[in-house]
Amino acid sequence: MPSEQAPATQTAIARHTNVLNNILEAVGGTPCVRMNRVPQDHGIKCEVIAKCEFMNPGGSVKDRIGVRMVADAEASGRIKPGDTLIEPSSGNTGIGLSLSAAAKGYKMIVTMPTKMSQEKTIVMEALGTEVIRVPLVAYDHPDSLISVAKRLEAEKGYHLLDQYANPGNPNSHYDGTAEEILAQCDNKIDMIVIGAGTGGTITGIAKKLKERLPNIIVVGVDPVGSILADPSAPAENTPYQVEGIGYDFVPKVCDRQYVDRWVKSRDKESFDLAREIHAKEAMLCGGSSGSAMWGVLEAAKDLEAHQRCVVVFPDNIRNYMTKFPDRNWRIEYGLEEGEITRPTYNQLEKRVKELEAKLAAAAPAAGGEGKTKAFC
Ligand SMILES: Cc1ncc(COP(=O)(O)O)c(C=O)c1O
Repeated sequence: MPSEQAPATQTAIARHTNVLNNILEAVGGTPCVRMNRVPQDHGIKCEVIAKCEFMNPGGSVKDRIGVRMVADAEASGRIKPGDTLIEPSSGNTGIGLSLSAAAKGYKMIVTMPTKMSQEKTIVMEALGTEVIRVPLVAYDHPDSLISVAKRLEAEKGYHLLDQYANPGNPNSHYDGTAEEILAQCDNKIDMIVIGAGTGGTITGIAKKLKERLPNIIVVGVDPVGSILADPSAPAENTPYQVEGIGYDFVPKVCDRQYVDRWVKSRDKESFDLAREIHAKEAMLCGGSSGSAMWGVLEAAKDLEAHQRCVVVFPDNIRNYMTKFPDRNWRIEYGLEEGEITRPTYNQLEKRVKELEAKLAAAAPAAGGEGKTKAFC
């Protein structure tokens, strides 16, 4: 490498030493970065290292399973380019699979609850995916994201890769994410904190880390309102706004035996911490990264200065530009005091629906000519 190159240029070149064949080859290999202000400001003594999964090409940890599940299905002869894939997702797996689908020539359909951000739909549509919005209902309700995807699989012959049961989900982390963390941390890790949705990330990483570092403490983070931390407890009907973590059933890929301790998270602390991470660490992560940080503050408070805690930051602020980073949204959801100065996307959508209902009621009963298209 020519010596006249600046150190920053040399680092950038070292990361990608050759031309990649397609963008899927850029998935993974995310940096581990020391946190210098947030843990310290909350009294944490140990070193805290963030695994920055928000730096994947599609913006999340789920790009990894998008690559892996498609590659595994191709290797087994189950799918071939031109086929149609379908997947239920809170959005990031949808984006990850859409990356693979776009780069390799598959048609992609994603079922996603209305709770999840419009930004995720826009990214998936940009990748050529059809997004079907479904209500946020119990996983076994006929209208749930999973039921609708399974129905379309059966009726239309689409291929469901099924992140909830597909071994490629945890395996991508066992083979990839965990190996990267071990190498980047030089095998020195005392605790790791990871949020759980399907549980694929925590299962795959924890399994490998426990094989290599038997004394490591694995901490799972689960929002209040989800049953993953304690499936025996009666289900609570506590809605939460953080996207991607928590479920009302334990997915097959979530192997709880690898989790030593669970921390429950709430919206307020999660979003406040995510914003602190943006402002003090310059890491542009999503809301579930704030939940994971809450897990660090709870679980790592007794670790000593010579110890090290790794935390996984799963996705990017880009997914939420009209949501928690926007003060108006936080006020709308009671997470901050103040006056709304600009209507949020949610409010505009609600207004349009109300106006549509009024017009439909006023229009002649038969044709429904009063119905408008949103934002006409
Ligand atoms: C933003 C975000 N955080 C965390 C997770 C949890 O990952 P996993 O499904 O591997 O448990 C997801 C999963 O979709 C996610 O989208």
